[in-house]
Amino acid sequence: MQKLTIRRPDDWHLHLRDGAMLEGVIGDTSRHFARAIIMPNLVPPVVTTADARAYRERIMAALPQGDVFQPLMTLYLTEHTNPDDVEEGKSSGLITAVKLYPAGATTNSHGGVRDMDKAMPVLERMAKIGLPLCVHGEVTDADVDIFDREAVFIETVLDPLRRRLPELKVTMEHVTTSDGVDYIKSASNLAGTITTHHLIINRNAILVGGIRPHYYCLPVAKRESHRLALRAAATSGDGRFFLGTDSAPHVDPLKECGCGCAGIYTSINTMSCLAHVFEQEGALDRLEAFASLNGPAWYGLEPNAEQMTLIRRIESLSFPDKIETGAGPVTVFDPMFPLHWDVEAHSGK
Ligand code: DOR
Ligand code: ZN
Repeated sequence: MQKLTIRRPDDWHLHLRDGAMLEGVIGDTSRHFARAIIMPNLVPPVVTTADARAYRERIMAALPQGDVFQPLMTLYLTEHTNPDDVEEGKSSGLITAVKLYPAGATTNSHGGVRDMDKAMPVLERMAKIGLPLCVHGEVTDADVDIFDREAVFIETVLDPLRRRLPELKVTMEHVTTSDGVDYIKSASNLAGTITTHHLIINRNAILVGGIRPHYYCLPVAKRESHRLALRAAATSGDGRFFLGTDSAPHVDPLKECGCGCAGIYTSINTMSCLAHVFEQEGALDRLEAFASLNGPAWYGLEPNAEQMTLIRRIESLSFPDKIETGAGPVTVFDPMFPLHWDVEAHSGK
């Protein structure tokens, strides 16, 4: 196949940041994606509906002129989140989901949840009003190995929560293990997002031949068998799996240092990378399900009316090694193979 036309895709997990970084990165998303679920882990985090409304306005103000893009806002769950405020956010149409960060799990998560019991009133209200919970599925216990944190989270936090509140709709974000894939398949009212980079790298990318900070993210990439399980899930067409890039820009000095931040920037080349992966798996006909159909179906939205066409070029494409933002340079994800699938045009503009 040399040409593929799909519905315009959405990104169901994205970090846009704020200020100069937001201005520097938003165009890479809005060029291709019609909608994105916007992560609330700013400093300070997006905790209330009023915070989300103000952040949405900043995003819309930063959008390149002429781009058609809808940010789907989330709230950062804390132990003090007010259920009435969450309900107001949902009923006003502003809030699409609430995000659970176990405290200490990742970037700017220290204000997250330590004791799930304290979050129960909000979670019960969300179950009642049909507002999904997006979860960063890793435990933070110092004695749990970093490569086991997703599997232990499923067993000790997610499964008990789902048994306690089976009506709560849960999106398990950035699934990185076969344990996660299997759990999603076995459960009801549960779906999972998969990132572009976890379909491409395993943990060797971070460590072989030297420490490569631009392949470090959380949840950290796992061993090859897990990557293969993610590929099988993403390319299966199963409606419970869909794209959430987790594109997470950090300026290079904060990645290339003694204690580098977690996050990989993929917004700019995600569609080319995904087409490559789906082609390798003989599943180009299922790219549309993964990137454009399964996500909206899960969130109760229509797929986008516009289309995107991808063309397979003979020459390999060139993406910048880094993008320059007002906050500083941000290194672009290098898939370590040449990319040929080019986004020709979409009718969203
Ligand atoms: O790699 C990551 N980066 N994982 C996360 O969970 C957070 C994100 C960020 O905000 O930088
Ligand atoms: Zn994220």
